[in-house]
Amino acid sequence: MRVLRLTLLVLTMAAVAVAAPIALKSLSPPGLRLGAALSTAQVEGGDARSLSIATDQFNSITPENLLKWSNVHPEPARFDFSPADRFVEIGERHKMFVVGHTLVWHQQTPAWVFASADGPRADRATLLSRMREHILTVAGRYRGRIHGWDVVNEALEEDGTLRRTPWLEAIGEDYIAKAFEFAREADPQAELYYNDYNLWKPAKRDGAIRIVNDLRSRGLRVDAIGEQGHWGVGEPSLEQIDDTLRDIPARAGVKVMLTEVDIDVLPRDPAMWGADLAKKATIRAATNIYPDRLPDEQQQQLARRYADIFRLVLEHRSQVSRVTFWGVTDAQSWLNDFPIPGRVNYPLLWDREGRPKPAFDAVGEVLKGRR
Ligand code: G3I
Repeated sequence: MRVLRLTLLVLTMAAVAVAAPIALKSLSPPGLRLGAALSTAQVEGGDARSLSIATDQFNSITPENLLKWSNVHPEPARFDFSPADRFVEIGERHKMFVVGHTLVWHQQTPAWVFASADGPRADRATLLSRMREHILTVAGRYRGRIHGWDVVNEALEEDGTLRRTPWLEAIGEDYIAKAFEFAREADPQAELYYNDYNLWKPAKRDGAIRIVNDLRSRGLRVDAIGEQGHWGVGEPSLEQIDDTLRDIPARAGVKVMLTEVDIDVLPRDPAMWGADLAKKATIRAATNIYPDRLPDEQQQQLARRYADIFRLVLEHRSQVSRVTFWGVTDAQSWLNDFPIPGRVNYPLLWDREGRPKPAFDAVGEVLKGRR
């Protein structure tokens, strides 16, 4: 009886070992980190299943929201570090490369940051001092524990000119240099990044390269440019992704990273951005085309898309330091609510129940060098 029980135990363990999906992080070539963005719910224990997928599969984490200014520093003299502390502890417990997102952005920044006592816009000196205090307090608290920071996020318009944000308007063009200077002061060891989306568009990419060359000519530390990688199944083209991965390191002299990867499988129509609520409801119904499940054909298309992207990443591996997915399972993705809320999207490698999708297998196969 005892022998039988033991045999059964061994067989069960063997079956579990066979069934357990291989960890992507174990397939990644040296120097290429693989990461995922964690939601506040995951960090605070509200979604244990997807958190354990993340810690099993990845060797880097980025907080999806909890280190944004409005989350961590909602009022002038009030910081809320408790979710961020949990986040960093998770990274340490699992020996992960911990990324901070983000220090200076025009979104998710409370109105008080930009306001003066008697009007909507603070002057240069006030804003610089608020920026410095914020960066020294937040990046300083995690000195040596957060290993890389998105210092400035989304500072560019689509044509590559600087975005007219309150930062730019109140401080001037050197607000970016100041942010990098303060980040270096807060943690001289941390890697520092410029992060933006649509850098596959040549004009916008030129803008990012210009920013980084300017920072470097001032003697400031910059380790990489992050292309977020919020892409579709057909756009950008593989050639445009290839150009991005080649061009950034060649012309900016820093590594390139894909920092917020997800692949939108739903139709995007410019009309979706309209403000007409009746029209919006109609568009939502008409474009929420997979409300119950992603059909096999689209599932395979998504898998091929991810395989193609990872093949390019591997081709450029000496210059690509990290690929981070913007979430773990499809349930978590912001694309369920963007560009219009309430659709069912399928952009990531795990489905809503935490099961690996064909896209997961496809990425694993490419990393194994089999396809
Ligand atoms: O936490 C509140 C909750 O209390 C409230 O009930 C709920 C009602 O809407 O809102 C919750 O906050 C939302 C938050 O996500 C957490 O879910 C905000 O409204 C919503 O605006 C916020 O969206 C985030 C967005 O950035 C804006 O900060 C997305 O989750 C996040 O994925 C997205 O991430 C950005 C990157 O930081 C930068 N690059 C683009 C990327 C995608 O937009």
